[in-house]
Amino acid sequence: MGKRLLLEHAHVESIDRLDVYRRHGGYAAVEKALKSMSPAEVVEEVKKSGLRGRGGAGFPTGLKWSFLDKKSGRPRYLVCNADESEPGTFKDRYLMEKLPHLLLEGIIVSSYALESHCAFIYVRGEFRWIIKILERAIEEACAAGWLGKNILGTGFDLDIIVHPGAGAYICGEETALLESLEGKRGLPRIKPPFPAVVGLYGMPTVVNNVETLAATPWIVLNGGDAYASIGIGKSTGTKLISACGNIRKPGVYEIELGLSLEEFLYSDEWCGGMEGAYGLKAVVPGGSSVPILPASLALKTASGQPRLLSYESLAEGGFESGSMLGSGGFIVYDEAQCIVRNTFNFARFYHHESCGQCSPCREGTGWLERILHKLEEGHGTLADIDLLWDVQKKIEGNTICPLGDAAAWPVASAIRHFRHEFEEHVHHPERCLFRRRQAAVPVNALAEPV
Ligand SMILES: Cc1cc2nc3c(=O)[nH]c(=O)nc-3n(C[C@H](O)[C@H](O)[C@H](O)COP(=O)(O)O)c2cc1C
Ligand code: SF4
Repeated sequence: MGKRLLLEHAHVESIDRLDVYRRHGGYAAVEKALKSMSPAEVVEEVKKSGLRGRGGAGFPTGLKWSFLDKKSGRPRYLVCNADESEPGTFKDRYLMEKLPHLLLEGIIVSSYALESHCAFIYVRGEFRWIIKILERAIEEACAAGWLGKNILGTGFDLDIIVHPGAGAYICGEETALLESLEGKRGLPRIKPPFPAVVGLYGMPTVVNNVETLAATPWIVLNGGDAYASIGIGKSTGTKLISACGNIRKPGVYEIELGLSLEEFLYSDEWCGGMEGAYGLKAVVPGGSSVPILPASLALKTASGQPRLLSYESLAEGGFESGSMLGSGGFIVYDEAQCIVRNTFNFARFYHHESCGQCSPCREGTGWLERILHKLEEGHGTLADIDLLWDVQKKIEGNTICPLGDAAAWPVASAIRHFRHEFEEHVHHPERCLFRRRQAAVPVNALAEPV
């Protein structure tokens, strides 16, 4: 059984209620931080822990906190990014639903470290039931004196405000989120300046993911060094992975970083292996935005090392043969899945979600969707595959925010590793696995050589 720093009590009945959470050690980190540590000491422990942002980019949290402008004396804000809209990623939803007080505890100790007296939780609007869970938890915490004025008599004040989004994926990008929180259209800002200097309402702001903030109570209680001793190399601690696709046991798992991808996929403790009779075809290890890995490169790196679930190992080989840990959305494809169809699906999503500010993304994502649709429908040519490659290259790196890259990388990696499938769609469209499945071809005939 792997270490559980976040989900240890997730299965305890009514752990979302304050009294039960308290009986299992809840809010001890708030007590310790506020009564016996200075804000700078909390920042120092988080730095020592090596905790990296769990929202996707993996930026060191303590370092990000140290950029926050505290000298100017302007109000500072902490914003919790709970927008979670990336296809394949559903771990923050689970954490908030099961352990709302753990998130609140993380926000309190982090706000204390940042010397901020107002924090926001920007929640994906579709999570209606989670908004209620969070609001009830905040009410309980306020009534018990864990939030509000003069917490535990220490003189530290904090309010937490829950703000629902309105269903736009782009509002998960931190600066679009801030615009949306200010009541404007969610358009990403040009950076610099970064939110640590000019953030919410123009004030110094830290934006952190739900899982990142939920990791901080354990660090405060056990120390940064103890956290850093878990995991592997610069991938310290544990990570929530939301696993889905053709596996026997989809769900949200907490793994110690450095676990081998093969063990995660096949062990009964985790995904339980492939569902049905087909073998592994590919894995998207970090949500829809990261490059897809064919089976051979998912289990081993190009240099023959076992592929590990860590920032470094997943990235080994660069975009030629690697991928990214991203947000931890682990999508598994068996041999009966159609890569062209899947790539088309992702492209349709990114085209729909592009905010339209930059032309390479606004126009390019539309081109990607249309060309992939043509290929998928069996009307494509070999020149279309080259055009697809060309279009994604022109988007990558040429946009205001990373949504453009996120749209380009799945297409690039699908062509790089599965070009033969794209070509087959040109030469033999009738062999498309997706259409054959739709036509109710006997399932065991799907993956036979054609
Ligand atoms: C299009 C797009 C969507 C994003 N969606 C989310 C999201 O839903 N949740 C999240 O935490 N980060 C999301 N991010 C990353 C955030 O911009 C930001 O890096 C993150 O919230 C920082 O928190 P962390 O350092 O704790 O990871 C998204 C980024 C992009 C470009
Ligand atoms: S890359 Fe796309 S989503 Fe991001 S700012 Fe540009 S148009 Fe908007």
